[in-house]
Amino acid sequence: MFSEPLISQQEIEQAIVTMAQAIDADYAGENLLLVGVLKGSLYFLADLSRALKTPVEIDFVQVSTYGQQQTSSGVFKLVKDLDINIEGRHVLIVEDIVDSGLTLSRLVELFQTRRPKSLRIATLLNKPKARKIDVQIDYVGFEIPNQFVVGYGLDDSERFRNLPHIATFSKPE
Ligand code: PRP
Repeated sequence: MFSEPLISQQEIEQAIVTMAQAIDADYAGENLLLVGVLKGSLYFLADLSRALKTPVEIDFVQVSTYGQQQTSSGVFKLVKDLDINIEGRHVLIVEDIVDSGLTLSRLVELFQTRRPKSLRIATLLNKPKARKIDVQIDYVGFEIPNQFVVGYGLDDSERFRNLPHIATFSKPE
């Protein structure tokens, strides 16, 4: 069952404006490659990219981590790799949520081998209490409690991604 919105549509919009201003200031005079992590980041990437004044290109990866019980040595599968060569590029990974940190830590490890000029991370939601692996996040929209959330890209078995806000979700008994 859904909660009342944990984070409203308006709060999301405002956080994105604020984040875009910080990113524009940090990358002034530069070009940026935004890398969305499918599928959860779809709305955040769409809205953040349109709020930015910095010239951007957009690419996507898709990752499978086999659930959250995996350790850092667990299975990490790149289902879809980048199309664009990131060597010498300013790269900003765009995530909907950082939970255990497993997905991002492995992605960062992989991308660093490709020698980007810089590599940073933006996430709409951060769940620090769920962290299993330390990841440095550069831009955070909201810190949230260790609860299951859906909406604005986040799903429960592929449902509810298209809710315009973020809500906590518990399965009916
Ligand atoms: C979610 C989210 C992140 C990852 C975060 O993706 O979009 O990519 O989990 O979790 P972690 O910090 O514990 O690695 P998910 O695997 O649910 O796929 P989806 O984006 O297609 O929903």
